[in-house]
Amino acid sequence: MALFSRMAAVREPVKEISDPTSRLTRLGYDPVAFDGKAPPDSLKALFPDVLFQPMGSESFSDALARVDLMIAAVDATKTREVEALCAHLRDNSRRGRVIVFLSHANVEVTRRLVREGAGDVLVAPISEPALAASLERIMATLDRPAIQPPGAAGHVVAMLKAGGGVGATVVAAQVAALVASTGRASRVCLVDLDIQFGMAAMYLDVVGSITMGEVLAAGGSPSEVAFTAELAPHSSGAKVLGAPKEFLPLESISSSLIDGLLEALRRDFDLILLDLPSAWTSWVGRVVREADQLVMVTNLSVPHAHVTQRQLSVLRGQGVDPESVTLVCNRCGGDAPASLSIRAVEAAIGRSFDVTIPEDRKLMSEAVNQGAAISNLRRGSKLEKALRQLIGLISAARIAAAQDAGG
Ligand SMILES: Nc1ncnc2c1ncn2[C@@H]1O[C@H](COP(=O)(O)OP(=O)(O)OP(=O)(O)O)[C@@H](O)[C@H]1O
Ligand SMILES: [Mg+2]
Repeated sequence: MALFSRMAAVREPVKEISDPTSRLTRLGYDPVAFDGKAPPDSLKALFPDVLFQPMGSESFSDALARVDLMIAAVDATKTREVEALCAHLRDNSRRGRVIVFLSHANVEVTRRLVREGAGDVLVAPISEPALAASLERIMATLDRPAIQPPGAAGHVVAMLKAGGGVGATVVAAQVAALVASTGRASRVCLVDLDIQFGMAAMYLDVVGSITMGEVLAAGGSPSEVAFTAELAPHSSGAKVLGAPKEFLPLESISSSLIDGLLEALRRDFDLILLDLPSAWTSWVGRVVREADQLVMVTNLSVPHAHVTQRQLSVLRGQGVDPESVTLVCNRCGGDAPASLSIRAVEAAIGRSFDVTIPEDRKLMSEAVNQGAAISNLRRGSKLEKALRQLIGLISAARIAAAQDAGG
């Protein structure tokens, strides 16, 4: 891979839609497929852009009409059930969008279901990786619109850290790359507001586009900048507005610049991740108050527990409820020696972690050195699973914010 290469790909223009949550893929499921329960959280975490909706008492075709894809369940020995399902598969216009869970399978019924239009037939007992692979394959064929309605606002996530080097930037960079590559429905931008020491563009190997330096030098309002066109994308599709190349004082940013910048970014992107400096300035306070979601990254140590507490109390002073902060413990387990228990640190901080991310030095340093998404280097790692859990929480906050905005 060429180091520091510029990516020339331009994303396709997409059509506008009116419901902010309709950027998500709707997956209907027959609860029978999951033993009468909901799909497991670990599966949901793998697909943060998917809304899992149980089929109620409505007919199969009504249910299929309101979702993008469906999971159905049938017993191969129950001829009537098989016939009914085949009729539905034949009649519906959504060929290839139904995954069938087949119990007491035989080759004949399996082949018939595929012939009648099932997207996939999975034979019981069904493993989660098999279902995830099937979902991923079918979702890749869905032609989903990817832009929000005019005037609708992108979701702004501010990344805070409990001390230097806790991993806030790599976490933000990987979340951006994972969301952009898996979520066909997301225009993602990672913005490096750590203007003096920021590494975000380096971590995704996207250098050469305009940076915060040009945004600041231009004067005027950032809302005049067409960020979608000006920023080169990472191979995942995520765009990065990096830190300035020249050293600039933190005071070069003002609160009014933040207002204009956020307005422009909300206009141009669905998800905006803001990497913040360690220092508290008045404009950092403005970011914190304007963001839709705050994510604080910390590590598992006594000093980090102290800084986390201090940061949470600074936030309280800014009118932010510390409970509303998404608290991430990075380098928690994995390669990191466990000299402290998570529970002891949670007790010291006075609240629990929302996500714990293991340390994986090899995978993370490979990702940083290659500017790659970890999922492109190794699939299904524990690191990826934990990051997808964080993405799930970001998606949930995004849906809640969209619903609040819709009244
Ligand atoms: N879960 C992890 N596993 C392995 N290495 C990690 C992990 N998280 C972070 N690192 C490594 O830690 C180093 C610091 O990460 P990063 O630059 O993201 O921290 P930061 O909180 O943004 O620091 P700064 O205060 O400099 O902004 C990087 O080399 C990164 O690869
Ligand atoms: Mg950083």
